[in-house]
Amino acid sequence: MKVRAPRGTNDLLPQDTAKWQYLEDKSREIFTCYNYQEIRTPIFETTDLFRRGIGEATDIVEKEMYTFIDKGDRSLTLRPEGTASVMRSFLENKIYGQAQPSKYFYSGPMFRYERPQSGRYRQFHQIGVEALGTDNPALDAEIIVLGVQFLTELGLEDLEVHLNSVGCPECRKNYRKKLLDYFKPYLEELCSDCQDRYDRNPLRILDCKADRKQEFMQDAPKIYEELCTECDQHFKQVQQHLDILDIDYMLDARLVRGLDYYTKTAFEVIYQGLGSQDTIFGGGRYDGLAQEIGGRDIPGIGFAMGVERILLTLEEQEIELPIDQSMDLFITTIGEEAEQAAFKYLYSLRQAGLKVEMDYLGRSVKGQMKCADRNNANYSIILGGDELNKGVATIRNMKSGEQVEIKLDNLVQEMKKRIE
Ligand code: HAM
Repeated sequence: MKVRAPRGTNDLLPQDTAKWQYLEDKSREIFTCYNYQEIRTPIFETTDLFRRGIGEATDIVEKEMYTFIDKGDRSLTLRPEGTASVMRSFLENKIYGQAQPSKYFYSGPMFRYERPQSGRYRQFHQIGVEALGTDNPALDAEIIVLGVQFLTELGLEDLEVHLNSVGCPECRKNYRKKLLDYFKPYLEELCSDCQDRYDRNPLRILDCKADRKQEFMQDAPKIYEELCTECDQHFKQVQQHLDILDIDYMLDARLVRGLDYYTKTAFEVIYQGLGSQDTIFGGGRYDGLAQEIGGRDIPGIGFAMGVERILLTLEEQEIELPIDQSMDLFITTIGEEAEQAAFKYLYSLRQAGLKVEMDYLGRSVKGQMKCADRNNANYSIILGGDELNKGVATIRNMKSGEQVEIKLDNLVQEMKKRIE
């Protein structure tokens, strides 16, 4: 049997990587304007970090982690997300000793053992940001706006910003009780997963895809109506800051997120056209995470977006990214002597920073011209014995058809002049 890539993973071929590079560059450009700096943490961490950080009762920790024992008998896990790692790194490197907030961004592969489908993979990629060291609600709004600006600058439209507050452990305690009371008479009607969640994690019943359509779901108590004074104030101030910037959002009491570290603000940005996996990015505040993993009291807020989902949305909305895959010059050669001369010219042109190519398969002149076309060459030049003897050749502009004779000694300068 042929060896195949593992289920739920994807190869990124050059026509794809050009788009990925564009997204990564664009995100860097925008995140830098907001004063976020790149952080790179390990692809695997001790399993304990995610158990304690994300929470034992979450789908991720219960069912989806790629966990293995290494040769030193340590339990390690391929990271299913980036937030816990960023917080661990912040604490371990004692960044809290510096002026705050600390604003980070990251991008890279994450791993979850999920059932693969469009927009859901086992190795997927996130671009994320985290702002640590203050619980100022302005930062919650900044984070949301930053993500929306990035997607909007890519040309995406019809994005819905869903906003909620999941409160603090104190308000959640009361809310949990209210929820249990509310769902009790409907227990039999809930799906088997939610019957299971009823005792362990009743908030997750609210965003269950299977039970979403049940009529009694509409009237379930709303958490943002049950917040303590501090959480309520915070939530209102987040909204005020979004209003200052005229950002559209909708309050969504059923948005509870799948990771246990969230406190106060929770949000998701959705594009309905994506079908069942329609969340492009999600995030929120996690003021208890640092202590959960053994550190001091450090508040934080962030989001992560799925790169594959951004690309699916671009495709769905028929948006072409402005990617230049053209080449500066293709040198067509006739005969061995010209081939060797071209080989030397290529080297000089490449040293001068130009993107140039020649034929390596001994193609006919016609075949080489086709090759220049396939490579999207902006200019081409034909080198044969005649040209070499006279020391001149004709540069052809492939788009306009314009041809100019130049001295071969000046090839690099002439090409640089045209490209600039
Ligand atoms: P999350 O909601 O689990 O949050 O994931 C964030 C985004 O990653 C999702 O909205 C989706 O676009 C993408 N994603 C998640 N799982 C998959 C998958 N199996 N296949 C493809 N894409 C996927 C987090 O990961 C949090 N760490 C976000 C955060 C940062 N919260 C605060 N700071």
